[in-house]
Amino acid sequence: MTAFPARAAAAPLRTFSGIQPSGAPHIGNDLGAIRNYVRLQDEYEAIYCIVDYHALTTVHEGEVLRQRTFEMAASLLALGLDPDRCTLFVQSHRPEHTELAWLLATVTPVSWVERTPSFKEKREARPDDINHALLTYPVLQAADIAMYKASIVPVGGDQSAHLELSREIVRAFNRRYGETFPEPREVHTETPVVMGTDGLRRMSKSIGNTIDILAAPDVIRQQVMSMVTDTQRIKRTDPGRPEVCNVCQLHRFFGEDYLEIQDGERTARTGCVDTKRLLADRIIRHYAPARERYAELTGHPDRVEGILEAGADRLRPIAAATMAEVREKMGLR
Ligand code: TRP
Repeated sequence: MTAFPARAAAAPLRTFSGIQPSGAPHIGNDLGAIRNYVRLQDEYEAIYCIVDYHALTTVHEGEVLRQRTFEMAASLLALGLDPDRCTLFVQSHRPEHTELAWLLATVTPVSWVERTPSFKEKREARPDDINHALLTYPVLQAADIAMYKASIVPVGGDQSAHLELSREIVRAFNRRYGETFPEPREVHTETPVVMGTDGLRRMSKSIGNTIDILAAPDVIRQQVMSMVTDTQRIKRTDPGRPEVCNVCQLHRFFGEDYLEIQDGERTARTGCVDTKRLLADRIIRHYAPARERYAELTGHPDRVEGILEAGADRLRPIAAATMAEVREKMGLR
C-alpha cells in the first residue's frame, strides 16, 4: 500500500474521490480504488462522490443514468462505506461543482485539455459523440477536488493524467488569484490496474471483461471460468507462468496461500481450471456479506436516497464557503 502522510493533530486532512456511476462495481473497481475508500474513512475526513455530471458525457438516457447512480451508491455502502464515517453524495446534488468548473476553466489553457489521454481515446473510440463536455471533463474533476480543498485522492491507476491536470489547474488558479487550493495527491492501492478477464486490457464495463463482485454466484463463476490464463500453457502438463497469469495474480487478494497456488501452477501440479474454480469460490465467499447488504439496500431504495441526500446537505456549508472565497477573489460580486 502507498504510505500516507501522518494526519495532522489539528486539522484532519481531507480525502476526496469521485467514481463513475457505472452500476454495480467489478473487481477492478474494488481492488483498484474502493478498498482504499473504505480504509481511508478512518484516517481522514473522507468525501466520496458519484459523478453523474461526468457520466453525462457518455450516458445519454436519463433512466439508465439514474439506475446506475443508485446501484453504485448501494454498492459502495454494501462494500463498506459508512455514512457515519464518510460523506457519500451524488455530484449533481451539489450543483456548485458546475459553477466551480466554469471558473476553473478560465485558468485552463485549451492545449491542456486537448492533450488529455482520455479525451484522445474517446475521440478515437466514439467519433460520432465528441461533445464539448468531454473536453472539459478534467476541469470538472479538478473542481470536484478543489471544492472541498482535498489533498488526498484515492483513485485507480488510469486516473494519473487527470490528477496531474487537477494539480496544474489548481496551481494556475493559485498563481493568478493567490493561494487558495492545496495540490491534490493521488494514492493507489497495491493493484491500481486490474486486468480484465480477456487478460489483455484493463478491466472495464465498456469492454465487457469484468468480474461483477455483487452479481449472483453463477454469474461470477462463469466470468471467472472464462478468464484467459497463461496463453503459452497449452497442455495440462505444461508448466504455468503465474507471473503472467491473471488468475494467479488475483489469488493474491483472496487467500494467504497464494504462493502455494502459484507454485502449483508453475510445477503443473494443478491445472488452470482447478485454479479458476478455487478463485471463483473464494471471490463468491469473500463478497457474500456485501452481496447480502446490497440486496438489502436495493430492497430499501429510500434508505440509500436518504444517505445521499444527507451527504449532499452536509457538504453545503463547505461548498458555500469555497464558492464565496473564489467568487470574491475573482471579482464576482
Ligand atoms: N474521472 C474519474 C474516473 O473516471 C472520476 C472522477 C470524477 C474523480 N471526479 C473525480 C476521481 C475527482 C477522483 C477525484 O474514475
